[in-house]
Amino acid sequence: MGKKYFIETFGCQMNEFDSERISFILEKEGYKPSNSIEESNIIVINTCAVREKTKNKLYGHIGNLKKLKENNKNLLICVGGCSAQSLKDQILKDFPYVDIVFGTHNISKLPYLIEERKKVNSGICEVIENNFDYDLRNFKNKYNFKACLPISIGCNNFCSYCIVPYVRGREISLDPNDIIQKARRLVDEGVVEITLVGQNVNSYGKDLPYHITFAELLNDISQINGLKRIRFITSHPKDISEDLINVIAEKENIMNHIHLPLQAGSNKVLKLMNRGYTKEYFLEIVENIRKKIKDCSITTDIITGFPGEERKDFEETLDLVNKIRFNRAFTFIFSKRYGTKAYNLKDDVPLKEKKIWFNELVLLQNKISQEENNKLINKEFKVLVEGEGTKDLIEGRLENNLIVNFKGEKKDIGKFINVKITQAKSFYLIGEKIKK
Ligand code: SAH
Ligand code: SF4
Ligand code: F3S
Repeated sequence: MGKKYFIETFGCQMNEFDSERISFILEKEGYKPSNSIEESNIIVINTCAVREKTKNKLYGHIGNLKKLKENNKNLLICVGGCSAQSLKDQILKDFPYVDIVFGTHNISKLPYLIEERKKVNSGICEVIENNFDYDLRNFKNKYNFKACLPISIGCNNFCSYCIVPYVRGREISLDPNDIIQKARRLVDEGVVEITLVGQNVNSYGKDLPYHITFAELLNDISQINGLKRIRFITSHPKDISEDLINVIAEKENIMNHIHLPLQAGSNKVLKLMNRGYTKEYFLEIVENIRKKIKDCSITTDIITGFPGEERKDFEETLDLVNKIRFNRAFTFIFSKRYGTKAYNLKDDVPLKEKKIWFNELVLLQNKISQEENNKLINKEFKVLVEGEGTKDLIEGRLENNLIVNFKGEKKDIGKFINVKITQAKSFYLIGEKIKK
């Protein structure tokens, strides 16, 4: 069947970017992408570790691959990414038919590990720490009209619940010239939208030996001719600057959307989480964004059931959600991650109670999202078509990051189309093409 590979990605945009690097590396080794897992001779599972559930899902998934391996002894099963970085050879102990376990710091060594695996009789594991393994030039962009570009890797914040600093290492900002050069090249190749990715883009540059801020980098990137849309994720509230808000407000090609994770609405819980801001400060930022950036959509992440959170703390979160009216919130029940500070905190609220709070929050936010989206009905937007949507519709993205489904053709993918909104749901819109 030739050399064919299949990659499955379980994590965030950084994880997806790593998969694009893995594609590049495997194709350089002569592998071709495959459409089905059954027809591949190498399967790479790029894992996430952020919540316990993601790990459980992973375990179920690797379990399902056993049959494939029994039917095809030459199949190579490789497990990489954040769960691999944290579980290391435990994965080999739990699944002896896995061939290679590698981490987030040695992706470029995959070809070497494949060769090593051929020399021995059992699976191998290589997970290392604090190794800078990035080369922005070498990745295979999944789309030809949009791309993700990491600007920093790792994280220094150590929010007490979060495993990311442990599995990704300390924050390293990539060279601004490399980022700009790569962005230029992508635009030359036809990319019109770039999303800059980092665990905390707002602290970009702080570790570099010369002065550069995220606002300045964004300003430089916005000068690239032909780059129509710039997005970025994620903005940590404690590091957001006035300059950043100004540059977003000023530059036409920087999109009016900020993902600003609140996590909790009570100062007591924010402190326990080690988030570095108060709810009053968060509100100030939101006011400033709304004052300066026209129609800026603000989305967020919220955790319910953090150890020590009481009903009255949770009600402060509800109160803040009501006040701020986020366009969308990604909500999570606290998940205990081994190795983090919150792992040992006293946690007396039963899961059943946490689920009740969680549902209350979801209901409230859905109502707000729906109401905010209703305001867009009959308005017209420029949409970048991204792919096929539900039923026979195609799907595109508004400047504010909302998705709209509308009747169109496959050939519109990658193009800008004017769309009038006809219907609103809580998480997406329905519209129709208009001629302009
Ligand atoms: N760097 C990003 C977050 C990456 S993780 C930031 O700081 O915003 C994405 C989201 O997962 C977090 O914002 C948080 O809401 C959630 N999360 C992280 N660890 C979690 C845990 N242990 N339990 C529940 N949710 C968690
Ligand atoms: Fe995790 Fe906090 Fe870093 Fe985000 S900023 S990755 S939540 S430690
Ligand atoms: Fe991303 Fe999950 Fe790792 S959120 S950084 S893939 S733990």
